[in-house]
Amino acid sequence: MKIPLARPDLSQLEKEYVLDAVQSTWISSTGKYVTQFEDKFAELCGTRTSIGVCNGTVALHLALMALDVRPGDEVLVPSLTYIATANAVRYVGAEPVFVDVDANTWCMDPTLLEDKITRRTKGIIAVHLYGHPADMDAINYVAGVHGLWVVEDAAESHTALYKGRPTGSLSPIACFSFYGNKIFTSGEGGAITLSDPHLELRARTLRGQGVDLNRRYFFPVTGYNFRLTNVACALLCAQLERRDELINKRRHIYSVFQELLKDIPGIQFQPVADWAVPAPWLFSVLVSEEVFGKSRDKLISDLEEQGIETRPFFLPLHTLPPFREESRKRKEHLPITMSLAKSGINLPTYTQMTDDDIGRVVDMIKKARI
Ligand SMILES: Cc1ncc(COP(=O)(O)O)c(C=O)c1O
Repeated sequence: MKIPLARPDLSQLEKEYVLDAVQSTWISSTGKYVTQFEDKFAELCGTRTSIGVCNGTVALHLALMALDVRPGDEVLVPSLTYIATANAVRYVGAEPVFVDVDANTWCMDPTLLEDKITRRTKGIIAVHLYGHPADMDAINYVAGVHGLWVVEDAAESHTALYKGRPTGSLSPIACFSFYGNKIFTSGEGGAITLSDPHLELRARTLRGQGVDLNRRYFFPVTGYNFRLTNVACALLCAQLERRDELINKRRHIYSVFQELLKDIPGIQFQPVADWAVPAPWLFSVLVSEEVFGKSRDKLISDLEEQGIETRPFFLPLHTLPPFREESRKRKEHLPITMSLAKSGINLPTYTQMTDDDIGRVVDMIKKARI
């Protein structure tokens, strides 16, 4: 029996809502589930509104366009994140400038931002990596001093709290993904959350082909079709209605992993800042090769052989072909990112996992040491 890394949790409620959307024939991007989802998601994130889009990458692209990011601008981003964070910066012709992460949060280190700011720097994308919020007060403070905008990449942090406030409400625009491996999913899907009416108008206009929202078939700007369907929103409405159940099951998995893994030498848990309530997305650990006795990559392949799917941490973006030349010119030196990327591993985390499944994963990790 294989244990996958992730698996969507789709109940009778999701089926009912999707069937209802299909039977209504409202399967494109208008319909009651679209408005219901946008209202509910904004409520969950503590913002005035949210705008559904077709995926998380598009959410980032839309956020940057709404903020009028332009060719030649520089945007500070962590290097330890999914490629979409930096790709979106390139879509608007701007350049990502990579910042190292803090070993205590695995997120962007706010104390390193100032050194990276130039006359071209226009903004910061803070990523809440593997469910843990970035230190937003410190990031917003630096941004405020230098007149920069801030965007949260909250793709992986559904329901996480920063000093009691939900991620998604900690910057003028935040971006979410509802890809199949996320806590709340519609297969493909995304959203931005925001409260500023001016930014909302720009984002809604750009999302819908640039159409004037008060004048049909009049297009004042070049826009995009970034819309999310009513069928996807039906799925998301059900997922949000079940949020306590989905989150509690994942929290249980986290606590069982913590209990069973705590005495294994060379396995270090994701740190949690005292101001953070992370989202239980993928249970993540660091493997110290010297203490554990085996490299992270060898552990991954051993688990794979036993039918257990895991994932290495993201490769540092500044080392990847689209970005490495620029980063070399800038002499990027990101030691914490490099070290985490080399030793980090995401373990299987999905609501249908039983305690026995978790036990099997842990047993295999223990066996791999021998
Ligand atoms: C941090 C981060 N940003 C952006 C994205 C992009 O989202 P999507 O895959 O929905 O385009 C993802 C994940 O999938 C992500 O993990």
